Amino acid sequence: ISCSAEDKTVVIGLAADSGCGKSTFMRRLTSVFGGAAEPPRGGNPDSNTLISDTTTVICLDDYHSLDRTGRKEKGVTALDPKANDFDLMYEQVKALKDGTAVDKPIYNHVSGLLDPPELIKPPKILVIEGLHPMYDERVRDLLDFSIYLDISNEVKFAWKIQRDMAERGHSLESIKASIEARKPDFDAYIDPQKQYADAVIEVLPTQLIPDDNEGKVLRVRLIMKEGVKFFNPVYLFDEGSTISWIPCGRKLTCSYPGIKSSYGPDTYYGQEVSVLEMDGQFDRLDELIYVESHLSNLSTKFYGEVTQQMLKHSDFPGSNNGTGLFQTIVGLKIRDLYEQIVASRTAATLEAAKA
Ligand code: ADP
Ligand code: G6P
Repeated sequence: ISCSAEDKTVVIGLAADSGCGKSTFMRRLTSVFGGAAEPPRGGNPDSNTLISDTTTVICLDDYHSLDRTGRKEKGVTALDPKANDFDLMYEQVKALKDGTAVDKPIYNHVSGLLDPPELIKPPKILVIEGLHPMYDERVRDLLDFSIYLDISNEVKFAWKIQRDMAERGHSLESIKASIEARKPDFDAYIDPQKQYADAVIEVLPTQLIPDDNEGKVLRVRLIMKEGVKFFNPVYLFDEGSTISWIPCGRKLTCSYPGIKSSYGPDTYYGQEVSVLEMDGQFDRLDELIYVESHLSNLSTKFYGEVTQQMLKHSDFPGSNNGTGLFQTIVGLKIRDLYEQIVASRTAATLEAAKA
């Protein structure tokens, strides 16, 4: 028996370079759906998959066709499409979308080898995260919604230093070299996918501090495509107008350099978009409710839900700036999209039954 239309899996694509906040974003997203995602029980401890009641997140590194040695021998990076099996990626995402379980390979990040596959059952929501969710046209067409995390080079560098130097003992020179080595393939194969994204979270150095190169204070832009089915962009004050807002003052505590927010229509790769921007950081998370109350179309279920989510995960990176805020907002929009898709299918099934 095949699944009824209502049960069909909703597929979300999340693209970004590695070390750009995908796992943090996934933790925020699954929390919005009301459950923490965990690795499959009793399976390969090096599995890259995360499973919660509603959502399964698979890592597209699992579709590497060349393992670490294979890439070395052929002189290709993991970013190169030649190191990845898009036919299998397409087949398996399609099968899951159609309600059929698959045996998905596992790329072992520790050994650099391909491990025996794991069984993935069709979830309500499937997130495919990694370097190439929007690269192959067939896979792209399966996506109900897509997101690109666009971390500027300066910021990527700052984050890498923090992680690889502090936590993994790499030298500054080796971090610089590895970023430089990835850059040509990143520009050729990863970056162009952002033109297909329904939402892009762009992370840039602040403009509030002249010549800042610390990468701590961030300017974050949420670019939302217009005309996407089941997705109504968030707006500040008045939909479609252009607004600049400095919320710091009596109701929002801001230390140097403060917060500057803006909103307005724009074009992105020739397409109409709305852009919500936040430069700077907030000092007190509980006061975020003040910012939240000025935003509309948030798809919250109750007043203050964005602030509640942010408070709940105040220990996640980016919780005091636009990265955490916009990730949380996109999470709420995805929940809304999912609920609308399910509702429209139920309505269609009822119609069909009547006819
Ligand atoms: P990915 O899953 O894409 O590899 P992670 O979510 O694990 O990325 O983040 C990698 C590292 O980047 C984190 O450990 C943290 O140091 C840094 N990072 C990620 N997101 C942010 C953020 N919003 N603000 C500051 N640092 C961040
Ligand atoms: C994964 C990551 C890549 C990373 C690679 C390591 O595939 O997604 O971003 O570059 O592992 O590759 P390496 O060839 O250094 O093992």
